[in-house]
Amino acid sequence: MASEAEKEEETVCVTGANGFIGTWLVKTLLDNNYTSINATVFPGSDSSHLFALPGAGDANLRVFEADVLDSGAVSRAVEGCKGVFHVASPCTLEDPVDPEKELILPAVQGTLNVLEAAKRFGVRRVVVTSSISAIVPNPGWKGKVFDETSWTDLEYCKSRKKWYPVSKTLAEKAAWEFAEKHGVDVVAIHPATCLGPLMQPYLNASCAVLQQLLQGSKDTQEYHWLGAVPVKDVAKAQVLLFESPAASGRYLCTNGIYQFGDFAERVSKLFPEFPVHS
Ligand SMILES: NC(=O)c1ccc[n+]([C@@H]2O[C@H](COP(=O)([O-])OP(=O)(O)OC[C@H]3O[C@@H](n4cnc5c(N)ncnc54)[C@H](OP(=O)(O)O)[C@@H]3O)[C@@H](O)[C@H]2O)c1
Repeated sequence: MASEAEKEEETVCVTGANGFIGTWLVKTLLDNNYTSINATVFPGSDSSHLFALPGAGDANLRVFEADVLDSGAVSRAVEGCKGVFHVASPCTLEDPVDPEKELILPAVQGTLNVLEAAKRFGVRRVVVTSSISAIVPNPGWKGKVFDETSWTDLEYCKSRKKWYPVSKTLAEKAAWEFAEKHGVDVVAIHPATCLGPLMQPYLNASCAVLQQLLQGSKDTQEYHWLGAVPVKDVAKAQVLLFESPAASGRYLCTNGIYQFGDFAERVSKLFPEFPVHS
């Protein structure tokens, strides 16, 4: 575990800091006495809500505008950091027009740019935010136990045009390949569907799933096992993975795992006043 003195001296970088999880992560780092945080945001994005977080100010939070595809901009944010939390990746419910350009390239090349910078500047550990979507959907997992060797079925996803799981799976696989080849310490976290209070000024994709269910969406999401996890716990887990030297490999972060239909049923029971299809 990092000592309080280390936390105060060490700079850490959070990519995608202004998003749903990123904002919670910055808040959690501040709450845990980190006093030097480099926060990257997509160029032109609003980051003002980060400075409204308790304890945030110009002295402990620096915002870097960086498209993760811009290796120079990523490098500037990572330079001098001991830890990097790579969170930025396109996360949308909308079907992409050009999956390669809109989802896969930023997920994969963005991860590689972050890892390249981490290697160059001797970062101690990179916590990569992968996803349960790099583990499922996979029709082959029915009835089997999931473990660290479980991966999403890329061909199944491509045939169903499920491009987000493809992007997360390819990005995580690229991260492990890079880590092994270049000796960068990577730990991956795989959150399930993150829900919780929004601190960013827009509705992100996972909270939109809940909203759509409440509005009567009939998408059954076959073979889509999922869980729900409080975003607050995901941010805590990300920090714990950075601070725990013994942590390694892939960490599923969820309250359980069930079929989408079971999740819908639970939501229906919790909110009977809404037209939830289960
Ligand atoms: N929410 C979930 O249930 C969930 C579950 C598992 C894993 N994850 C992963 O967690 C991460 C954050 O997701 P989230 O739920 O917090 O979604 P989010 O609010 O949409 O955050 C995604 C962030 O990535 C940034 N981003 C996207 N493309 C970028 C690019 N090319 N360059 C720089 N920044 C870019 C976005 O910036 P702008 O919005 O400013 O463009 C945004 O800040 C993603 O990696 C996602 O795959 C999320």
